[in-house]
Amino acid sequence: MDSLFADDAFDRAARVVAPGAVWLPGFLDDAAQAWILRQYAAWRAGPVPAHATTIRGHPMSVTTIGLGWHWRPGRYDREAKDVNNERVLPFPDWMTRLGRQVIAATAEAVAADPDSPSPVPASWGLDPDAYSPDVALVNYYDESAKMGMHQDKDEHDPAPVVSLSLGDSCTFRFGNTETKNRPYEDIRLASGDAFVFGGPARFAYHGVTRIHPGTAPEAARLSDLGGGRTNITMRATGRD
Ligand code: SIN
Ligand code: MN
Repeated sequence: MDSLFADDAFDRAARVVAPGAVWLPGFLDDAAQAWILRQYAAWRAGPVPAHATTIRGHPMSVTTIGLGWHWRPGRYDREAKDVNNERVLPFPDWMTRLGRQVIAATAEAVAADPDSPSPVPASWGLDPDAYSPDVALVNYYDESAKMGMHQDKDEHDPAPVVSLSLGDSCTFRFGNTETKNRPYEDIRLASGDAFVFGGPARFAYHGVTRIHPGTAPEAARLSDLGGGRTNITMRATGRD
């Protein structure tokens, strides 16, 4: 009963941030967070190591592992031609199942939101059974890493992006589809949170302005990396 009227009870509810964009705090419990981070430790062993992708001649401050596809700005390949030419690991089936659970919870949150259109357009991609991501970009942020405002637009399929956060909290900036500037909202994404952007929000600019060191829960401490944050984004590339 202690938790029923806890201070954070209302903050933990799913929230529609913008049409098509939903924040699902605490979607993953401690056991799920720890289990996914064990998979992350295995992915780091290769065949393609976590690497800093080069954008316009500059290495990103995050390191990335691709599952299903290897991403570089403007392209997806099966082999990491700019790293070691190895083929990336396959996209795991469990991640499709997890992505569908997130989409189902997102659909519920959208349906419960009085400002949502009714019926919700099929183009928002919130039918869980139809959600078939084929790439996950797994990013690691050390305490000083950031990600500038950008759109996820290298996919040919407008299915929603499902994001999962693990480890330290971050400040996630979620903006608009027109510019990198205001209006935007700064959201503190914590370990276990899911965030979905699809439909009218699919091409919204977004970024990570800072990591909050030492905020990871016990179950999701990236101790072997000296802390930090891992984020997984699932997408459907629409490529074959
Ligand atoms: C991304 O934009 O691809 C990652 C966002 C995040 O780390 O939360
Ligand atoms: Mn992105």
